[in-house]
Amino acid sequence: MNTQKCDDFLINNAKVRSAVGNLTLVNFRNYRFLRLSLDKPFVVLSGENGSGKTNILEAISFLSQGRGLRNAKLSEIKTLDFIPKLKNNSFDSQTGWTVSAQIMRDDDEFVIGTSVESQIRESDDNELKEVERRIVQVNNQKLSSQNELGNFISLIWVTPQMDRLFLGGAQNRRSFLDRIVYAFDTDHAKRLSAFDNLYRQWIQVLKGNNPNQRWLSSLEEQMAGYGVAIAAARLEQVNKLNNFMEKNSDDIFPDVYLELDGTLEQMITQKPAVYVEDFYRESLMRQRRSILYNDTATEVSKTDLKAYYKQKNMPAALCSTGEQKSLLLSIILSQAKCLTAYRGYPPILLLDEVAAHLDDFKRDAFLDKIAALQTQCWLTTTSLFEFTRIKDMAQFFEIKDNTARLI
Ligand SMILES: Nc1ncnc2c1ncn2[C@@H]1O[C@H](COP(=O)(O)OP(=O)(O)O)[C@@H](O)[C@H]1O
Ligand SMILES: [Mg+2]
Repeated sequence: MNTQKCDDFLINNAKVRSAVGNLTLVNFRNYRFLRLSLDKPFVVLSGENGSGKTNILEAISFLSQGRGLRNAKLSEIKTLDFIPKLKNNSFDSQTGWTVSAQIMRDDDEFVIGTSVESQIRESDDNELKEVERRIVQVNNQKLSSQNELGNFISLIWVTPQMDRLFLGGAQNRRSFLDRIVYAFDTDHAKRLSAFDNLYRQWIQVLKGNNPNQRWLSSLEEQMAGYGVAIAAARLEQVNKLNNFMEKNSDDIFPDVYLELDGTLEQMITQKPAVYVEDFYRESLMRQRRSILYNDTATEVSKTDLKAYYKQKNMPAALCSTGEQKSLLLSIILSQAKCLTAYRGYPPILLLDEVAAHLDDFKRDAFLDKIAALQTQCWLTTTSLFEFTRIKDMAQFFEIKDNTARLI
């Protein structure tokens, strides 16, 4: 194992406190095999559209809990046959995909690895089927759950899809918020998946011919418990971020005010949690009939995160595209700082085409602010000139022909 420590990342006296030291991909999307060694605060991936820049960020995003920054199906990731095989490649195309990385955090260092494993499981209709499951390891020790990864790595990503975060349906905003909550409170992912499991069982029972009433009540009681815990965690996180942003106004990026729009969240601010649980349990009971026909979402899955451009008192959805990007980056910067204070080390940043919609001044100011976070930041671009500002602090890779070349 490479024993390089974070001190080697000292650039212009700016210590990098969290970083990927090296990254290895095997059979991951367009890469049969790729290994990058990193030693600068910024890593810039440049290349034409479709060359595989986002795929590298996605691979890193799999070092944390969940389905990565594309919310992908595990089965679509393995390299397809049209990608040429490498000569002398010990990883043949039968091997499943893996990502592994050396993570450096202040004086700590460890290796996170992830891959997929096939398992035979019994489906809801009692049939056996093969399912793929992602397994995660730290220093070659298998973790019992992906959720534990949150204790080892902290990541924040921004993707081009998030340029539309404030427009369109609530689901993306809710997922965005849930990831923020999870970054602070790793139990949040457990609560969400427990809720989803219960919800699925509930729908299954409701679809049956003669639903067992006691079973339904028991599921509803558990769903109400998790639902209120989820709502409380979301609310606490939004309050935490709002407080932080109020006290730490930025000189360039606009102040944002966040608001949660959800029945349970609203009620929690006024009533004791047990009262809200009772309310939710009763509401679920009333939804037994309608949920199958009218509406496929219950309160927990309806909550929306609203954002406002504070100085203008303007809902983010009504702001210009450039303003919306600034609002998003403002939230990201605050989240990164807040998380650093909370965890004691900064999150690693994955910023996919982040310079789009930003004027030159804002882009350079943003890069300066990232540099001040003392963390490693991965950037992608089709035009290198966007990152001239950080040329002395960055490694530039050209992504071409399913590989990366240091330039
Ligand atoms: N499983 C896969 N096997 C091989 N290639 C893939 C797979 N999944 C996606 N790709 C390829 O990856 C490319 C997209 O890479 P991406 O990282 O999104 O590009 P960009 O550089 O524009 O960010 C596409 O050309 C697509 O065909
Ligand atoms: Mg891309």
